Amino acid sequence: MYKREDYQRAAKVIQSHTSLRPAIGLVLGSGLGKLAEGFSERVVVPYEGIPGWPVSTVEGHRGNLVIGEFAGQIVAAQQGRAHYYEGYTMGEVTFPIRVMKELGIHSVLLTNAAGGVNRRFQVGDLMLLEDHINLPGMTGANPLMGRNDEALGLRFPGMSQTYDRRLWQRALQVAQEHDIPLHSGVYFGLSGPFFETPAEIRMIRALGGDAVGMSTVNEVLVARHAGLRVMACSGITNRTIDTVDTELETNHEEVLEAGEVIVPRLTTILKGLLSNFPV
Ligand code: HPA
Repeated sequence: MYKREDYQRAAKVIQSHTSLRPAIGLVLGSGLGKLAEGFSERVVVPYEGIPGWPVSTVEGHRGNLVIGEFAGQIVAAQQGRAHYYEGYTMGEVTFPIRVMKELGIHSVLLTNAAGGVNRRFQVGDLMLLEDHINLPGMTGANPLMGRNDEALGLRFPGMSQTYDRRLWQRALQVAQEHDIPLHSGVYFGLSGPFFETPAEIRMIRALGGDAVGMSTVNEVLVARHAGLRVMACSGITNRTIDTVDTELETNHEEVLEAGEVIVPRLTTILKGLLSNFPV
């Protein structure tokens, strides 16, 4: 169990690397870490050097916090994240979000790789989260379980205003201006690490999920608990398989490959959003 002082200690160490004070946090998911290479005045802080910070063991996740200037904003970007399926506790998975709060960040923009469940989605498309279903979370596997520290947030936080509508609207507008296929939909969060069975995909679709993935929702819960504004965007890296009558099998390589198409599109959207950030 972390305490508030643990988040503060990590924030102090990060601040000792740079005089830049980020206002916006980015979380770059599988294969999307490249986006931070375009920051100016960039300072790279490896996760290993930040006390308490979990280090991702997954390929495609680099393990650096990159602070720099991007589209006129000072941002702190996580190149890679820790996942629950790696064996980290929920507290570890969401530790970076609480550190971002201590850094003085007011908004977090989360990205992830996700499987397309909605039949209209193509590989390389983006989906802005308008809402989520957190199946493990609903049944007790979530980071807000346990004793609540009122200094961090409410015991019973509401989740009906989770994804900031102003940020959502602005992102859709930017995508439209640049002819980027950006859907809006419901992210179905699962623990993984296995990809779903065809029956599970049909269940997710029947329950209203448009995309499925193994991250993001835990960080979103903690971010909202902390009062941060949240935007989240999935890169559709594969179409999910909803029938046993096929030779196809989803794999991590295709997830990473699709990142190549997704990064430039996501970069354009984030740049547009940041350069005219709705207050
Ligand atoms: N399922 C779950 N998580 C994912 C997928 C998927 O198909 N693709 C990328 N992350």
